Amino acid sequence: MTTGFYRDTWAEINLDAIDENIKNMKKHIGTEQSLIAVVKANAYGHGDIQVARTALEAGAAMLAVAFLDEAISLREAGVISPILVLGAIRPKDVQIAIQYNVIATAISLQWLKEAAGHIREGKLNYHLKLDTGMGRLGVRDKEEVNDVIQFNSKQKNLVLSGAFTHFATADEINTDYFDEQYKKLLNLIEAFDLDKMIIHCGNSATGLRFPEKLFNSVRFGISMYGLSPSNEIKPELPFPLKEAFSLHTKLVHVKTIHAQEKVSYGATYSASDEEWIGTVPVGYADGWIRRLRDSDVLVNGKRVPIVGRICMDQFMVRLPENIKVGTVVTLIGHQEQEFISIDEVAERLDTINYEVPCTITSRVPRVYLKKNKIIEVENSLLPHKIRMK
Ligand SMILES: Cc1ncc(COP(=O)(O)O)c(C=O)c1O
Repeated sequence: MTTGFYRDTWAEINLDAIDENIKNMKKHIGTEQSLIAVVKANAYGHGDIQVARTALEAGAAMLAVAFLDEAISLREAGVISPILVLGAIRPKDVQIAIQYNVIATAISLQWLKEAAGHIREGKLNYHLKLDTGMGRLGVRDKEEVNDVIQFNSKQKNLVLSGAFTHFATADEINTDYFDEQYKKLLNLIEAFDLDKMIIHCGNSATGLRFPEKLFNSVRFGISMYGLSPSNEIKPELPFPLKEAFSLHTKLVHVKTIHAQEKVSYGATYSASDEEWIGTVPVGYADGWIRRLRDSDVLVNGKRVPIVGRICMDQFMVRLPENIKVGTVVTLIGHQEQEFISIDEVAERLDTINYEVPCTITSRVPRVYLKKNKIIEVENSLLPHKIRMK
């Protein structure tokens, strides 16, 4: 049976975990709120089309991406739900957004005026971005909000259907800056008819911690994938999150080396005794970057250390004994009683969990699981996508 890839390295995406995280979040925020599933950056490395489908089936009302190309790619794959582009679309491309029925984000009055000038046919549906303190995109004061409303009222081809902001510190225990941003938001949205618009301010952290502050929608990103928005708020999460992403490969070569013999580039690792060394076909070109040297992976349910430098396509591990070629090696995920979490990998890299699945490159095939069965395999290297029943 074909597996859709010819190299024993793959990421597994547990779509049931995503389904469960969404359903728990929906219960938590209540029926008045709708959920916008954030599937930008290929769904944080998990696979945008499969995550989008799962999220919509689990009750998400809308999808959000960062760029117009991401929205078009979802449309081309047959996704028909509302899609919001959170980032800046080039004003000259808004006709394409209209053509694909994609909701744009107006990042300033200037942007809106330029965008309106490029509409030849149809209407541009958009949300207005409010910069309450993130300092990234959006209108910053009430005067500009009123100018946008005025300009909008005179343009037949513009439809202002929503407004939103983004919090810079919703994942921190100290809420001083969050409170400041929230206050500014309340002030900026005074001019809107809140019943007629989609108003959203919450990312995962806001939704998990302050469900009463969401207006009518939440943008659910990192926690849809089963990850906590920060370590700080992990102890106070309102329901358990289920990690969806795991990464596996298989030993391709096993040998003994003698004391003082070296391993990998730079010959930095020297065996202290007779040692079993396994070669693992994953490297920094897969996103398993060189800084992950000196960390562990799982073999036969036990932690084994990476030895020597990580190469572009391979690295070596020290094995406790002669282990058969073809044995599964888990870089992220569970094996028997052991678990290497995405948070653990992020800590080793001195970064945040968001970055870890995003950095596992498209060279690594994604295998999608439902009820422990493979339902689809996606290998971006081969021109076909193989669906398995
Ligand atoms: C504007 C915007 N909204 C929502 C999100 C989702 O946030 P989170 O992944 O923390 O839920 C992001 C993520 O970067 C974002 O940039």
